[in-house]
Amino acid sequence: MNPISLSQFLIEEQRAKGQIDADLRRLIKVVASACKRISIAVSKGALGGVLGNLGTTNVQGEAQKKLDVLSNEILLQANEWGGHLAAIASEEMDDPHPIPHRYPKGEFLLVFDPLDGSSNIDVNVSVGTIFSVLRCPEGVKEPDEKAFLQPGTRQVAAGYAVYGPSTQLVLTLGDGVTVFTLDREQGVFILTERGVSIPEQTSEFAINMSNQRHWEAPVQRYIGELLAGKTGPRGRDFNMRWVASMVADVHRILTRGGVFMYPVDAKCAPKGGRLRLMYEANPMAMIVEQAGGAATDGRQRIMEVQPHTLHQRVPVILGSTEEVQRVTAYHLEQS
Ligand code: F6P
Ligand code: MN
Repeated sequence: MNPISLSQFLIEEQRAKGQIDADLRRLIKVVASACKRISIAVSKGALGGVLGNLGTTNVQGEAQKKLDVLSNEILLQANEWGGHLAAIASEEMDDPHPIPHRYPKGEFLLVFDPLDGSSNIDVNVSVGTIFSVLRCPEGVKEPDEKAFLQPGTRQVAAGYAVYGPSTQLVLTLGDGVTVFTLDREQGVFILTERGVSIPEQTSEFAINMSNQRHWEAPVQRYIGELLAGKTGPRGRDFNMRWVASMVADVHRILTRGGVFMYPVDAKCAPKGGRLRLMYEANPMAMIVEQAGGAATDGRQRIMEVQPHTLHQRVPVILGSTEEVQRVTAYHLEQS
């Protein structure tokens, strides 16, 4: 069978299933081509002169890497003139970026984390781009922050690119999850897996263990039981992995199962959590749910959380359904 490119896949989705309209198809293509450019910049490493800090901080107070800012620029430039967007928001920008008046406007809102896990860039470990697509509320001509504050259930598409040994694009249009792998010679994303499905059960977990002393009781209980292994209530051993790039950790879970947790703890409680709802938790939750997994903030489905600010943070528990349900039940028993 001939390999199917991302462009062909999108046309197929548009024609056969009536799943998406032409603007959404163009939007995904543009995001994918921006991800290709980011992939090239990332893979140049030390030769590209793009490693290290820029000496600035973003709205979250985090040091910006040169590649954070470059990736943000690449995504902005690629997307602002295409005519499919009403506004763009990003982890790296305090406020939404309006579409310049000289360009046509469309009906979608795009929100992204241009380079997730960027603390891993300088050590040559996988990083990624996460994105979420919403519809601009009807009648809103100049979308501001409020236009973006929609729960994840309203996402019309979500995806991420992982820049690892190979570059892959993982996409959902609300009807399953499809994986594309970048053919570097041709510069084309080729479909390599349809209908991704996360195993329901798992023996692998991902959490930053150095925060253990700050965790709440339900998380202490859950992780304690996993660590007890064969001799504990779970009756089997569990393995742990933590890349510290959400994209890479979620990609592993999508591929071979597992549970990923960045719970709220005493350290990040004042901010509400560590990960950002709009451009980390929501798109990943949509992908994971579309692959048959689950995603909660410990108490409720992440995609049902009503956002109040663009850069809002949220606790995240996602992956294999049985484990996510168990951790969530421990939280609910307590409250
Ligand atoms: O974007 C935030 C992020 O870098 C995620 O990609 C990752 O899961 C997490 O932070 C890592 O946090 P920590 O440095 O506390 O392990
Ligand atoms: Mn991130």
